[in-house]
Amino acid sequence: MPAGTDAIPDNQTSAGLEVKAGQARCLKFTADGIYLYHSKSAQHGAITAHYWYDLLVGKQVEDLKGGNFWMPKAVNLTADDSDLMYYAVLGLSIFFFFGITGAVVYFVIKYRHRPGHKAEPSPAHNDALEITWTVIPTIICVFLFYYGWTTYIRVVTPPTKAVEINVLAWRWNWQFTHSNGVQDSDLHVPVNTPVRLVMTSKDVIHSFYAPVMRVKQDILPRRYTYAWFLPTKPGTYRLTCAEYCGTNHSQMGITNDGRRAVLVVHEPGGYERYLSDKAAQSQKLPPEQLGKMLYEKKGCNACHTVDGTPRVGPSWKATFGTMVPLTDGSQVKMDENYIRESIIYPQAKSRPGFPPSMPSFEGQLKENELLGIIAYIKSLK
Ligand code: CUA
Repeated sequence: MPAGTDAIPDNQTSAGLEVKAGQARCLKFTADGIYLYHSKSAQHGAITAHYWYDLLVGKQVEDLKGGNFWMPKAVNLTADDSDLMYYAVLGLSIFFFFGITGAVVYFVIKYRHRPGHKAEPSPAHNDALEITWTVIPTIICVFLFYYGWTTYIRVVTPPTKAVEINVLAWRWNWQFTHSNGVQDSDLHVPVNTPVRLVMTSKDVIHSFYAPVMRVKQDILPRRYTYAWFLPTKPGTYRLTCAEYCGTNHSQMGITNDGRRAVLVVHEPGGYERYLSDKAAQSQKLPPEQLGKMLYEKKGCNACHTVDGTPRVGPSWKATFGTMVPLTDGSQVKMDENYIRESIIYPQAKSRPGFPPSMPSFEGQLKENELLGIIAYIKSLK
């Protein structure tokens, strides 16, 4: 912001600007974390405050730096072994591909049919040659099996003292639930600590994929699957669904501002701070703000817009208090009860033109959260 006194707060809730060059001032932000001001020449400006962890999730994902053509650089302690296996198999395949095709081409030319040349009789067998082509591949296979097996055992066995995080996936978002009840659609984890994920799906098969961790695991409905990793470097990394799960598969985990859900590895102590700050944030919000946050965090935004455009589901804009048509030909008033029922029993009163594919949120939303979503829909005039 330019220094000087030509910035006047827009209203009482944004009081306290009027700064001179080099001066420090405390600002009072609105509940939205926004500070609105104007200048004497009637130019408007806004300062937006972000939670420190929102700055981390908004960072550019880092998995492209330090990698190579084949893979991004791994930040999982156990990934080095699986990477070694990958490169070993790749190297052997390249070696034998060129070795074998080279020999084939050489023999085709050397022993080609020419006028006046007679074919030599083939030898019955050659002990030295046969021992060589048996022993060398056996050694290679035993090496690949031994390293593959020990690495696999390590990959599927999480240490007993791991930070456990529950993952719930649905069309088209993730929800990560931490030990203190904090829920988020970005995955936050501590550094240098084993992290174990316990995952399940509400609807179809999704696949949790964190390339820098070398972790890819299917998430199945009505069953728990597991994954674990030990992050070695703090940063913001890519997180993606690696299994086609319907229309918006490629948009899975997309937030309101078009950002994709990410994996944040915190500096030492940062994860604990995140848990306590996030818990405090979600308790304090006024209903409308809470609803707006849940709209994104619970993935409502995958199917419902707030700008009037119909997507997989009807838009939320300017619908509260109106009569909406139902599939059976009747009408219902869009009020608190209809919203509540549609969240908990989505197929009870479905609307024409929209597939009956919304999953139930029964048990996923607390009473105050339901009220928050209702308040948010009301606010969308
Ligand atoms: Cu979820 Cu693809």
